[in-house]
Amino acid sequence: MSRIAYVNGQYRDMRDASVNIEDRGYQFSDGVYEVCEIRDGKVVDLPRHMTRLQRSLRELRIDMPMPLSALEIVIHETVRRNRVTYGIVYLQVTRGVARRDHAFPVKPVKPAIVVTARGLNFRKNQETAARGIGVITIPENRWPRVDIKSVSLLPNVLAKQQARENDAYEAWFVDGEGHVTEGASSNAWIITKDGKVVTRSAESGILAGVTRAVLTNVMSALQITFEERPFTPEEAYEAAEAFVTASSQIVMPVVRIDGHPIGNGKPGAISMRLREEFHRFSDFS
Ligand code: PDD
Repeated sequence: MSRIAYVNGQYRDMRDASVNIEDRGYQFSDGVYEVCEIRDGKVVDLPRHMTRLQRSLRELRIDMPMPLSALEIVIHETVRRNRVTYGIVYLQVTRGVARRDHAFPVKPVKPAIVVTARGLNFRKNQETAARGIGVITIPENRWPRVDIKSVSLLPNVLAKQQARENDAYEAWFVDGEGHVTEGASSNAWIITKDGKVVTRSAESGILAGVTRAVLTNVMSALQITFEERPFTPEEAYEAAEAFVTASSQIVMPVVRIDGHPIGNGKPGAISMRLREEFHRFSDFS
């Protein structure tokens, strides 16, 4: 079955879908994106993703490409047309098409929008979670506005590639003070030997993950102690457990950081429990 993309007002076969070469997303990374998980054909935590999308757009002074209710219909329709039951829906909004000039177009242009959906292999993801993933740490080299979910992801791309070349799946950025900020495409967490779940505050240095926010509700309900504070790679090496969160992975256990085994080198019990319980606390639409 061919894949279908929604592109600026039309559902197109992906083989024929295209955007203008003067789209500012293409030329300047002048745009933002969201990724939502699809489960049982439903979009997970869409309202939270839409709230973050609107915030990212506001911060960059890009208009919503259409009213929110219409956008939600397009997202659901793209999922439906691609017959995805488990996977992700990707949506990208850029400032639009204009003759190349760094400053915003003088005459306002319509924001450009693309929505795609694709299936992921559920069993393979479960197997990855059962094994756990490796992480490397690297110096933070991104701009300070990582709270905006911008498509400008070059440092993240290079970080992820470095991880792959070092037999790891994710790279954790470490800021100038020696604290882990987050992963190239996920938030970073550890669990201390006395069972406290620790992650950095969303106030600075990280994207406020939707999975992260929902997980804090899961932990309150399960009476798992949660602490928002920075941690160092050295503290992480000694942690009982570690994991990452992202919409495409939910809770993914980390079993190795910079070659150091975490805990007994296997996915931790609390991480796996959080992974299993997560969707009881998600919104499905
Ligand atoms: N990444 N931090 C970064 C830098 C991210 O790119 C992501 C998500 C997260 C987690 O956010 P959320 O829980 O809302 O997915 C944190 C997406 C999945 C991606 O780029 O594919």
